[in-house]
Amino acid sequence: MPATVVVGTQWGDEGKGKFTDLLAKEMHLVVRYQGGHNAGHTIVVNGESFALQLVPSGILYDHIVPVIGNGVVVDPRVLLAELDMLARKGVDTSRLKVSGNAHLILPYHQELDKVAERRLGKNKIGTTKRGIGPAYADKASRVGLRVQDLLDPKIFREKLDVVLKEKNALLAKVYNQLPLDADAIADQYLGECAPRLEAMITDTVSLVHDALEADQHVLLEGAQATFLDLDHGTYPYVTSSNPVAGGACVGAGIGPRYIDRVMGVAKAYVTRVGAGPFPTELLDEVGDLIVDRGGEYGTNTGRRRRPGWFDAVMLRHAVRLNSLSEVGLTKLDVLDTLDTVKVCVAYELDGERFDHLPYHQSVLHKVRPIYEELPGWKTDLSAATEPGHLPREASDYLAFLEEQVGVPIRMVGVGPGREQYVHYAA
Ligand code: GDP
Ligand code: IMO
Ligand code: MG
Repeated sequence: MPATVVVGTQWGDEGKGKFTDLLAKEMHLVVRYQGGHNAGHTIVVNGESFALQLVPSGILYDHIVPVIGNGVVVDPRVLLAELDMLARKGVDTSRLKVSGNAHLILPYHQELDKVAERRLGKNKIGTTKRGIGPAYADKASRVGLRVQDLLDPKIFREKLDVVLKEKNALLAKVYNQLPLDADAIADQYLGECAPRLEAMITDTVSLVHDALEADQHVLLEGAQATFLDLDHGTYPYVTSSNPVAGGACVGAGIGPRYIDRVMGVAKAYVTRVGAGPFPTELLDEVGDLIVDRGGEYGTNTGRRRRPGWFDAVMLRHAVRLNSLSEVGLTKLDVLDTLDTVKVCVAYELDGERFDHLPYHQSVLHKVRPIYEELPGWKTDLSAATEPGHLPREASDYLAFLEEQVGVPIRMVGVGPGREQYVHYAA
């Protein structure tokens, strides 16, 4: 059976969690393939909100096997706290599987993330300070500890002792910080976390392939987004993994021929948290209105998200980078009260027009957006459940985006609730 990817097409927080949850109804496995607890995926069911960081968004269905793939970086303390939170809300988490090849986030990763950001001063990236970058750096440097090391205390301790020596020297000598204690880390990771995680640690690559071979449908859930991708995003203002659809193959352990559907999730406008270029950023009262109506504050960090108009140049690039088969558009309802809505159709710099993303990032920092302005719909869309419920101006806005982006919009979110969406048949 084929696999489907859900991928963010902007700078994150597009509503991947909501659409993953919706699509999961028809799936068997939901696999997170990269990132860590820098993600915050919100699902609202019957008025109850679930903010997930590491656990795949399929967890709310009893028939789904949720999988944390090898490409994810896992802080086991955070994972267990999230499982406890879900259990308190009555969610059965016993089906969760975690790849033994996923890398661990250790306390020194988080410390180094914090002090490195502080040292960068005004040039800081604005990371989530969760230790994501340092953990992926250790993976690439081949000094990382993996989830499977939790099953072998001797190996865990040997690796920890070697790597902690270097990390403590770095923390003390470069960053003037107190050293971390290997015994305390081992007590927490081996003593407290390992016994609870042991049963979940699995060869997830075999699990995914067994499912595909048994004609089951696998959903690959991206975290972060295309323009936060380490290779394709607005470097260095990116995360340290590959959220693009290609990353799903590596982070779940499947070849590209299994993937036949790639849904790119986009907001009806754009937001970004943290630093970095943002051509359509709105620094005026329209931006404030979008932040206010859209509740644009980080799911876990609480940071205000920077708002801007929909950027078709970015989306066209995301179509290419991810082989998008369709777009899932969220938060159309947030624009309900506006007299007019703008869409960036191209950029301009010194008389030159850019219909595609400029290759040189210094150009992207300076470009001016070229906008088309469309009439607003001035109608509450939150109860719409089928295309016919949308006023003409809202349908025209969607048609204009489709024409600009070049792939069909299949789902449109009109509110945070699971049932608040409009489906457009193929
Ligand atoms: P993710 O990281 O891509 O999963 O997105 P987040 O969960 O971080 O942020 C999206 C926010 O928008 C969450 O609070 C969702 O509940 C909310 N949301 C998702 N879709 C819609 C929608 O169509 N309309 C509105 N108003 N809110 C939505
Ligand atoms: P979801 O999955 C939005 C941003 C951070 C920062 C940069 C690097 O909820 O869409 P990191 O901690 O990853 O090293 O931070 O990436 N960032 C996100 N922004 N949504 C996310 O996840 C993000 N995960 C990381 O704000 O700019
Ligand atoms: Mg989010």
